[in-house]
Amino acid sequence: MAKIKTIGILTSGGDAPGMNAAIRAVTRAGIFNGFSIKAIYRGYDGLISGDVKPFTTENVSGIIGQGGTVLKTARSLAFATEEGRQKAYDNLIKEGIDALVVIGGNGSLTGAMTFAQEFDFCCIGLPGTIDNDLYGTDNTIGYDTTMNTIVECVDRIRDTAQSHERIFFVEVMGRDAGFLAQNSAIASGAEAAIIPEDSTDVDQLARFMERGIRKSKKSCIVIVSESPKCGAIYYADRVKKEFPNFDVRVSILGHLQRGGRPSARDRILASRTGVGAVEALLQGQRNIMVGVRNNEVVYVPLSEAIRSDKPFDMKLIKVLDELSI
Ligand code: F6P
Repeated sequence: MAKIKTIGILTSGGDAPGMNAAIRAVTRAGIFNGFSIKAIYRGYDGLISGDVKPFTTENVSGIIGQGGTVLKTARSLAFATEEGRQKAYDNLIKEGIDALVVIGGNGSLTGAMTFAQEFDFCCIGLPGTIDNDLYGTDNTIGYDTTMNTIVECVDRIRDTAQSHERIFFVEVMGRDAGFLAQNSAIASGAEAAIIPEDSTDVDQLARFMERGIRKSKKSCIVIVSESPKCGAIYYADRVKKEFPNFDVRVSILGHLQRGGRPSARDRILASRTGVGAVEALLQGQRNIMVGVRNNEVVYVPLSEAIRSDKPFDMKLIKVLDELSI
């Protein structure tokens, strides 16, 4: 196998706080270890259009604390086509890039895996998503910051909920995963969380109402995982219909949750996994995601990282239930 000399870096999918810290880490660790670095702008779209620029250590100065991604990002439709991936490969060869580091979530790492298999190209993934839904890493880059943002918002909403004695349904992101909803509910002292992982035949709202909402409290907050059909509005409407004496409001946090300065935890995770990505290349690893499990840097095959069944600790439901009486 030819020796790797030049590493390409891109960010893809939804931006996540800490992506810049990861770009910085891969760039600096790469240069420290003798590699050249090329930055690819606008995710896979930039790879297809040839939006590529050499990076030095100066290019990543002062970005560790910035939210978003200085490389821009995209959800590329073109990369989902064979024609698009062929163009991407041709540009990698043209630019002399021998390995690609992709910072992104599930869809982005699935793209990297397909590409790696199709062209026998070395791809390394870094877990960059607020959703925390990548398998094999305890946390993803951006998850901690977003959780803190949600908790800050809920603390504020609680003031209004208490003052007006209202039920608030607060909708948070997470795509198909309830990590953000469940843990932010615990951290903000919310009365309940409605999450996709808890889809038993018992209706989560009914269970919550039966548990005696407002028996001891005059206001409450329910965190709801986003869902195309059963989001916060759906549950609020049901309560309004079934319990018309309650004063109900909805707050959808939306993209407020994704931006902002990364937390120290996310900066450290991004720095450790970024250095881990370069270390992986030095070791001759291919087609893996770098994660952190039990505080150790780990290499997870891309095919595993994208599994849809990341374990969800169901005991978290009991924690919230017992503490929200
Ligand atoms: O994957 C990150 C995420 O923020 C999800 O939680 C959410 O469902 C989605 O991206 C929203 O994407 P967009 O910003 O493209 O609307």
